[in-house]
Amino acid sequence: MDLKGRNFLTLKDFSKEEILYLLDLSAKLKDKKKKGIPVDYYKGKNVALIFEKDSTRTRCAFEVAAHDMGMGSTYLGPTGSQMGKKESIEDTARVLGRMYDGIEYRGFGQSIVEELAQYAGVPVWNGLTNEFHPTQMLADMLTIREQFGRLEGIKLVYMGDARYNMGNSLMVACSKLGMHFVACTTKDYFPSQELVEQCKGYAAESGATITLTEDVESGTKDADVIYTDVWVSMGEPDDVWEKRIRELTPYKVTKKVMENAGEQAIFLHCLPAFHDQKTTIGKQMGDRFGIEDMEVTDEVFESVQSKVFDEAENRMHTIKAVMIATLGEFEE
Ligand code: CP
Ligand code: NVA
Repeated sequence: MDLKGRNFLTLKDFSKEEILYLLDLSAKLKDKKKKGIPVDYYKGKNVALIFEKDSTRTRCAFEVAAHDMGMGSTYLGPTGSQMGKKESIEDTARVLGRMYDGIEYRGFGQSIVEELAQYAGVPVWNGLTNEFHPTQMLADMLTIREQFGRLEGIKLVYMGDARYNMGNSLMVACSKLGMHFVACTTKDYFPSQELVEQCKGYAAESGATITLTEDVESGTKDADVIYTDVWVSMGEPDDVWEKRIRELTPYKVTKKVMENAGEQAIFLHCLPAFHDQKTTIGKQMGDRFGIEDMEVTDEVFESVQSKVFDEAENRMHTIKAVMIATLGEFEE
């Protein structure tokens, strides 16, 4: 498998075999990290990490992964660089491509990360756009495989805003990998028809299925994985909160949902999560709407079925695999 020089912008660009290769590489790297075996083969290489939106996991995963591999990294935050204000994406890409061996981008439209990739001349990695979050997918799939020993035939139910980066990306990943994807939410939050059709094409090859349903009981019945995400994503206006809370509360992940899913079921969330009032926004919404949580109850979040911190850890191992595979020159 040779992914050297490839960009990592969406899993749509990768075959099932390529995705499985990245998962196997991630598992090997995780094992090495646990055993303290160094993988610092990239001394003298450098990566640029562009974040136009906030991040804990993705930023730290890239920085720790780069450091573990002996590379230098530069964090470019929402302010402080010339990008966007005085310098176009195209020019920024050509400048960074002269200094760095790879570039991570987190921000707004998918078209921006595509433009960066077009002009950079070095691999570009999507650290989240409005449309897709592909590095998160590898961590999620690794976590599911660790729990169930397989991916094929696993039923994953996504509850909440399925039109955005997480719903879209999970539908792509599941349909490529022969899994059963269910978007369980009100129909205004279903993924776009265009993406559903594309994914049905992948599903026809892999044996996956795609179901869109508003019915919680049948949608979550006997599921292996119940997945949710925040109801309002980064970059969305504050005035959508009230409508989202009203429309998506029926799709909150509760103990009842987990019981309907079955004993073997696990709970996943890309995080950060609103499961209590220990955050500024969680507290604000609690005061405004008289609620204690949002997309998931604290009971489910803290339950043994919840594997969210394994999932968060796996961000680092999988991002390391993406960098190694696309930068190449890795000595096993
Ligand atoms: N899941 C995820 O991407 O988290 P951050 O926003 O903290 O990077
Ligand atoms: N949908 C969320 C994902 C965060 C990891 C957002 O875009 O804010």
